Amino acid sequence: MPQPKAKISSVLAQVWPYLRPHRGRFFLAVLAVVVTSAIVLLLGQALRHFVDKGLHAAAGVSMMPASLGLMALVVALAVASFLRAYGVSWLGEAFVLGLRADVVKNLLRHSPPFFETLSVGQTLSRLSNDLTLLQTVVSTVIPIAVRNGIMVVGGFVFLFITSMQLALIIVLMVPLIFGVLAVFGRSIREQSRVVQQCHADCTDFVEESLHGLKTLQAYTQEGVLYERYQRLIHALFDRAVMRNARRGLMTSLIILIVLVSVVGVLWIGAVQVQRGSLSTGDLSAFLFYALVLAGSLNAFSDIGGELQKAAAAAERLFYLRDAPPALVDRPLPTPLPRPAVPVVFSDVHLAYPKFPDRPILQGMSFTLNAGEHVALVGLSGSGKTSLFDVVLRFYAPQAGSVTLAGVPIEDIAVQDLRRTIAYVPQDSFLMSASLKDNMTLSGSCSEEILKKTADHVQLSAFVLSHQDGFDTPVGPRGLHLSGGQKQKINLSRAILKDAEIMLLDEPTASLDGLSEAHFLSILTTDWKDKAVLIAAHRLATVQTMDRILVIDQGRIVDSGRHPDLYERCALYRDLVDTQMIQGLST
Ligand SMILES: Nc1ncnc2c1ncn2[C@@H]1O[C@H](COP(=O)(O)OP(=O)(O)OP(=O)(O)O)[C@@H](O)[C@H]1O
Ligand SMILES: [Mg+2]
Repeated sequence: MPQPKAKISSVLAQVWPYLRPHRGRFFLAVLAVVVTSAIVLLLGQALRHFVDKGLHAAAGVSMMPASLGLMALVVALAVASFLRAYGVSWLGEAFVLGLRADVVKNLLRHSPPFFETLSVGQTLSRLSNDLTLLQTVVSTVIPIAVRNGIMVVGGFVFLFITSMQLALIIVLMVPLIFGVLAVFGRSIREQSRVVQQCHADCTDFVEESLHGLKTLQAYTQEGVLYERYQRLIHALFDRAVMRNARRGLMTSLIILIVLVSVVGVLWIGAVQVQRGSLSTGDLSAFLFYALVLAGSLNAFSDIGGELQKAAAAAERLFYLRDAPPALVDRPLPTPLPRPAVPVVFSDVHLAYPKFPDRPILQGMSFTLNAGEHVALVGLSGSGKTSLFDVVLRFYAPQAGSVTLAGVPIEDIAVQDLRRTIAYVPQDSFLMSASLKDNMTLSGSCSEEILKKTADHVQLSAFVLSHQDGFDTPVGPRGLHLSGGQKQKINLSRAILKDAEIMLLDEPTASLDGLSEAHFLSILTTDWKDKAVLIAAHRLATVQTMDRILVIDQGRIVDSGRHPDLYERCALYRDLVDTQMIQGLST
């Protein structure tokens, strides 16, 4: 999959636009981070004071002012810590809100070919995992990085103030630590990317399996599925373990470097205290700062890993957010004339992007006029649905053209084009919403019109049998409905859209005979002036059409009315005879 390479710095630069609207909170949170770090650093000075004055000075020195001062520092630390935690988590949520919206907004603009390279499961997995990862980075990792950065700088300053000689020992460890971070960082990032991919594969698999669980169980595939899933999750486990081992090795190397330095400091410091060139309070404060510094540098190793993981997640999310849709309107699209018909297909050739050398439509030419009802008939896979894909601009033809009222579809704004077309897809599509929302696809419509439409598609009895009527939920993907009911709802959409051009892909495939007859009556009454293109295997549906196009391997092999075609076209005759309907209509 194409992906731009992103560096951590450029990822951070991409995060800022989401935080900019909340600058006030951002600076307050930064202030809270600075204040908490500064207070921790001051605690070292308090420690020195307490050791030198409290433990070693002559009795009678009052410790009350110092104790009260320390108490005040601790209270200030608590308040600033709350502001820091609240502020940064708020910013993390705001960032995720903005990015999530932008990613989904861009996804909704993409045409089907985009989801042929990146499955829906992978997209979902990215959205949830990567957003969580980035949220953690913004609300936890970055503030920790800032805090530790301040600790490192402040810690060094105090180390040098306390003892120049000892500080030099600590200085030696820094390049070593950054060397380790540099060596391991790159490969950890690469491995994180692989782990994420394995994760997406697992999500994909579960989603697909649960989606088709009825079929899979009917074929008793549970065991096979489970084995395949086991293989996937073990691959994920192995990759994650490999990455974690590397991360663990990196952390332990850093700890080793730090602890060796601290032992060195203890050793030399103790000698200096014995000689009297360093006070006990100084050594205590030095050790405090050395440990603070070590802790901070060690945190950087984790932070480095987290940032690298987040950078990989950010790359993927920013790709989803920024990938330009293949379908973009011309700068000055041609307004669609009214009426928008005829629809003229001229020598249309199509191959799908996945198999560019496999021709699907091979020179389709025909005209669909206003008030004309044309049927597409042909074997499975002959290219009927593909023709609808071309008109709706889901896939672009490699050659030839489709025009509406003389305007090529590429010159029309895509939303304009789709507004003039009512489409009933071959696979009924339902959202997890009410019957009404599914029928109208969230467009507004009076109850009266809804009832009339339900009557038209013979759905009234079903609606009435539910207490909530049109507000009855249909379940995820229409789970609570029968196949025919789903199809009727898809038909209702086309009826309610009342567009000039009707593209109906197998609109009666799941209907009973009575409902089908009712639907045919709509064609001859309400839709008699519309341009209707209808693909149908059920040839009873197409008997009365003005014209029937017989499609074979992406070509129109014959066209005409039913009786003539039955006489002269062998393919059509075979199709009719196998359905035993010939006698019904000739
Ligand atoms: N997205 C796709 N990528 C690659 N090939 C595809 C894609 N969609 C369809 N095809 C192929 O294009 C050919 C035509 O498919 P199409 O869906 O147009 O057939 P159809 O005539 O509608 O068939 P049916 O009557 O079964 O619905 C088939 O061979 C199919 O495998
Ligand atoms: Mg089809």
